[in-house]
Amino acid sequence: MNVNEQLNEYAQMTEEALGKYIPSTECLQKSVIEAARYSLSAGGKRIRPALVMEFCRVCGGEPETALPIACAIEMMHTFSLIHDDLPCMDNDDLRRGKPSCHKAFGEATALLAGDAFAIMPFEIIAKAGLKKTISAEAALKISQMLAELAGFGGMIGGQTIDLENENKKPPVSEILEMYRMKTGALLEFCCKAGCIAAGAGAEKQLPAGSFGQRLGLAFQITDDILDITSDEKTLGKPIGSDKENGKYTYVSAVGIEKAKERVKTLTAQAKDLLTEFSDTEFLLGLADALAERSN
Ligand code: IPE
Ligand code: IPE
Ligand code: MG
Ligand code: MG
Ligand code: MG
Repeated sequence: MNVNEQLNEYAQMTEEALGKYIPSTECLQKSVIEAARYSLSAGGKRIRPALVMEFCRVCGGEPETALPIACAIEMMHTFSLIHDDLPCMDNDDLRRGKPSCHKAFGEATALLAGDAFAIMPFEIIAKAGLKKTISAEAALKISQMLAELAGFGGMIGGQTIDLENENKKPPVSEILEMYRMKTGALLEFCCKAGCIAAGAGAEKQLPAGSFGQRLGLAFQITDDILDITSDEKTLGKPIGSDKENGKYTYVSAVGIEKAKERVKTLTAQAKDLLTEFSDTEFLLGLADALAERSN
């Protein structure tokens, strides 16, 4: 099985479904809808939707069952990226190979497009429950988990610590805790939500969540490495943003070589957590591909 082909298939399913959630622009508020569509359809690796659908599949469900959840998390992620790029945060002008949302549409519209993507996921998950695509109980559980893992103890909490640590040298343990929140939490959500959509219980959700967490730490460390070693064209976002913003990353703390070693260890730990599941070829391959990625 080819990891990239499967990833592309999930990405296509996601993009087709995402397009249907964005309303027509024949209305007075078309600027925010255009900005939202622009950021959502700007590309991106679509890792999170793939994790949601694949965990649903390895738990015995159909990937399509989890498609609404896959779209919901891609929106939540896009919200985090639009706001992360704003001048009051990382002040980055390029995202997914195009001008950042605020560069293309202005700050206020970008802020509102981001806000919309923080709210719409809950509408989509509720609808999936009402339409019985997933059980009503699964919809409730997934909504609660998304709010928790995107909120104070998750992505938003991590982004707060990230900003407050600018021009400081926090201990490595604190850097990793911040990564667990800002990046690991949403990946944890993806893996667990896929299991829940398939009707799987705690015996699957727990190792899936831990897999997402390990993968998330490796993913953020790799993101920090690429901020130094990659180029703008390959990465689709500015290089050297962390240094410019006074971010003391895991790479600043231990150096690139040790950081690469840590990515390898975390990836191996993540893969070991998949023994609870069968037919994990894609997940194992994806974990390796993410550790070796160049964008
Ligand atoms: C970027 O996420 C933000 C981080 C959590 C490091 P991705 O690298 O998944 O971004 P896209 O979705 O592919 O653009
Ligand atoms: C952001 O980390 C993680 C988010 C929750 C958006 P970064 O600030 O390093 O992400 P990039 O490099 O801008 O994508
Ligand atoms: Mg940031
Ligand atoms: Mg950033
Ligand atoms: Mg980064």
